Amino acid sequence: MTVISPAPAPAGADVAMLRVTAKEAQADGVLTLELAAPSGGRLRDWTPGSHIDLVLPNGLTRQYSLCGDRWDPSHYRVGVLMEPASRGGSRYVHDSLRVGDLVGVGGPRNNFALVPSDQYLFVAGGIGITPILPMVRQAEMLGADWRLLYGGRSRGSMAFLGELERYGDRVVVRPQDEHGLLDLAGFLGQPREGVRIYSCGPGPLLAAMERTCATWPPYSLRTERFVAEEAGAPARTAPFEVELARSGTTVTVTPEMTVLDALNQVGVEVLSSCRRGVCGTCETTVLAGRPDHRDALLDDDERDVNDCMYICVSRSRDERLVLDL
Ligand code: FES
Repeated sequence: MTVISPAPAPAGADVAMLRVTAKEAQADGVLTLELAAPSGGRLRDWTPGSHIDLVLPNGLTRQYSLCGDRWDPSHYRVGVLMEPASRGGSRYVHDSLRVGDLVGVGGPRNNFALVPSDQYLFVAGGIGITPILPMVRQAEMLGADWRLLYGGRSRGSMAFLGELERYGDRVVVRPQDEHGLLDLAGFLGQPREGVRIYSCGPGPLLAAMERTCATWPPYSLRTERFVAEEAGAPARTAPFEVELARSGTTVTVTPEMTVLDALNQVGVEVLSSCRRGVCGTCETTVLAGRPDHRDALLDDDERDVNDCMYICVSRSRDERLVLDL
């Protein structure tokens, strides 16, 4: 058994040390890790759509959706795709992490929560099946009317097909090498009230979902991205001020720094993890001003409300932002 010292925790995060209790191949390039407390105790509760931060012994922190049984209080399970362009996270998990190793785990947190409904449509692409799997279980347990469209490169690359068999024809499996691109419009049908649509997968699939759902009632579609989209040039190139309403402090944010960096420099600690606008840890309430949203979490409707922002990446459109800090 190898015991490896943990990497430094993400800034301000509450990280627990868990042991890898199982590592299993699930499909070509996809494996699952099971994690448990070394003492065997109860882990923090979670809900479908949640993710954890894995603080790897090589110093990297990565976010992975929980895809196990939320009613099992002693184990977490995550699915990890070997990314061909891995910057060290998935490669370390696939090649180096072993059963018995200790890893840091932050969270769970949920930016992709399943809201109550009696009708769900789920669309997953590739490793995007991981947050959808517990949603499907919950929808089934609650007796909701649900269906899942699951696409992937090929059948051999699609994880959890065996686990999904029990749901029969509620699950439509469409490997691209057999069926071509997913027929999203055919699967979703006509826009209608009361249906909640959840989708996770590669950027092009999510973009296609947004186009296909453009005529559905607002808030019908919820998506989760694994990587932030290119945000383009900031709306404002000049410095701006951030006022912290609770302390009355004002901080200047120059074009070279993030809001999070600027706050850290004056000793204001805000919990953060990915620093790429994908994990949701640094969510901060906005009291005044218009953020320049540059995260991968909020959809267009949520952005328009301007009541929160992810300060690791998002900036300001106005000269001054007032935050609830
Ligand atoms: S730290 Fe992950 S969204 Fe900001």
